[in-house]
Amino acid sequence: MALRIVDHPLVRHKVGLLRRNDTSTSLFRDLTREITNLLTYEAFRSLELERVEITGWAGKVRVEKISGKKVAVVPILRAGIGMLQGVLDLIPSARVNIIGLYRNEETLEPVSYYHKLSSDIADRTAVILDPMLATGNSMSAAIDLLKKAKCRDVRAVCLVTAPRGVRKIEEKYPDVDIFAASLDQGLNKNGYILPGLGDAGDRLFGTR
Ligand code: URA
Repeated sequence: MALRIVDHPLVRHKVGLLRRNDTSTSLFRDLTREITNLLTYEAFRSLELERVEITGWAGKVRVEKISGKKVAVVPILRAGIGMLQGVLDLIPSARVNIIGLYRNEETLEPVSYYHKLSSDIADRTAVILDPMLATGNSMSAAIDLLKKAKCRDVRAVCLVTAPRGVRKIEEKYPDVDIFAASLDQGLNKNGYILPGLGDAGDRLFGTR
């Protein structure tokens, strides 16, 4: 499985609101966080649990707690930051590892201008955040960076995806699962997703 569309009615409803041109910046930000909550819920369904004994109100009781690998949440600048709190709401102990990419105008390839990864990233589950998976170039560069750092468990959470970007990730990294709210129709000539929701960074940060 590479692409997993989370088609819960709450997600579908909220994506409909995101797509509206008259959605305000503050509502757009809130919706992004809420949808990311719901996508995170699915992206971490496979977390392992262990049983531990605790003292409850009526004495000893066995409960479950998350065991195994710790999480690193990896927003791609700038729009990925809009999704960050949506993951941290559910996994407050996650480390935040930021990746900044720019596009080399000659090669059109993304180049990392900044990244700061946890020293133990190889032992963590990394979840990359980028609202729009369009060409797949930025996502691919972020996955490369994490793989070079020996991270073996990489997942991606996106709001909206396009077939071209999904194909690229599926072909290059079949082990990376993508959790998203929508698979849209395609890209326009500027690489924007259609019907999409426009420039996610501008809409999140009010710079439109
Ligand atoms: N980035 C965006 O913000 N929107 C798109 O549609 C594609 C890439």
